[in-house]
Amino acid sequence: MSLFIRLSNRLQILLLQHPNILTSALMKIFYVVDVISYSIVTPQEFLGKRQKIFGNNFAALGRIIVGEYNLTAKIIAEPQQREPYIGRFRCIPERFSKNFLLFLSDQEVKGNTAHKKARSAVLEVVFKPAFNNTESREAKDLLHQLATLAHQHGNPPDLDEISDDIQRTIIQYIMLVLLEVKLSPQQLSSLKTLFFSAKPRESLLISRVKPLAPSANKLQEVKRLEAIALNLIENSPVISRYVPTTDNDLSRTELSTLLLEAIAIAGCLGSESLLRSLLTKVPQDLEIDVEDRFEVLRVVLETARRYAPVNNINTITQAETAVTINGRKRKFPKGTLFSANIGLANLDGTVFKNPLDFNPHRDNLMAALSFNSVGEAKRRECPGRGIAEKMGSDLLVALQCKPTTPVPAKE
Ligand code: HEM
Repeated sequence: MSLFIRLSNRLQILLLQHPNILTSALMKIFYVVDVISYSIVTPQEFLGKRQKIFGNNFAALGRIIVGEYNLTAKIIAEPQQREPYIGRFRCIPERFSKNFLLFLSDQEVKGNTAHKKARSAVLEVVFKPAFNNTESREAKDLLHQLATLAHQHGNPPDLDEISDDIQRTIIQYIMLVLLEVKLSPQQLSSLKTLFFSAKPRESLLISRVKPLAPSANKLQEVKRLEAIALNLIENSPVISRYVPTTDNDLSRTELSTLLLEAIAIAGCLGSESLLRSLLTKVPQDLEIDVEDRFEVLRVVLETARRYAPVNNINTITQAETAVTINGRKRKFPKGTLFSANIGLANLDGTVFKNPLDFNPHRDNLMAALSFNSVGEAKRRECPGRGIAEKMGSDLLVALQCKPTTPVPAKE
């Protein structure tokens, strides 16, 4: 296995250093092999195995994975040229809306104002006003119910037992807080399938990625589910109040479609990983003063640093770039696909002392890249950051309380 990984890394480096039609075609084979093994094991296992052999940077998934903190932070801070990639996946761009944020390049690097405009629309119309909704009784009850269920399934809880409940909680929480929508059991079940199913014909994400996506004539089910979700978003109280202006000129349907993709891909999947880690990875003996909200937040941020929910930020290099792989400096031409890897960078021992230790009191916790920002460089910071931090903090607080709320029957 290790021999195959070494050979694959070496060949992918060579192919990326000599881009042409033939090498690009060969790279697609390496992408397919790697994306399948990445999906079979966990990201931590896939990345960790290679990190042990080569150090923080290596070639995999048809790109250069950069896990050295300084270069990762630099890539995240700089203007970014994007192509249709999400995390580990290469995507079918025609299956996404034209405003899908993750594919839009910044104006300085082959882009236009589209990313800035779409981002400002979702921030102003949806994300900023949503923060107040995290204080609502209904939002807190959802997290209390999840905490009660978790208590009933062991300490730490058995994730297999409560995985469906985690997913249901996240969908209800995000739809309530971002859009002020309360879902019927039927609507919740449709959204759960669309956002979390692993089946290519019904998952919003998998139906759009290579090589798993079905052909265009086999998309009926995913389209049916998307229509339900889009209808809910477009007619939500928040979007019904939205009136396009010269600054925010997306139509209601355009904004709703963009939100659907953002909630399904960026919102639900990142939050699922964060909540699963909060439920099982926070050390049992860690004392948390729940009255001190900053201390609670530090536990959420350390959990996100130690077990990054989102890993690969895919950008195209703007100049020839040198990367140290396995102790050797390798140069890659302008135009190479790089993946700034948050998960590896957050564990870079030259920046985070004893990186594998769970320590919410570490001095430089705020330097962690978990939400795709570094210092003041926030051009692509996750707009859901405040909501996700609050959801995680309120869940931790609920977990510290003795269970009192009765658990509702499953749908
Ligand atoms: C309430 C839940 C969440 C929502 C609604 C949300 C929404 C979004 C959106 C819309 C973007 C695209 C921003 C852009 O390109 O300008 C984004 C990006 C991102 N989010 Fe979140 N997010 C949520 C939770 C999380 C969590 C829990 C994490 C992990 C700690 C996370 C990490 C990221 C990262 C790393 C990116 C950058 C992805 C990239 O540029 O390729 N998000 N998020």
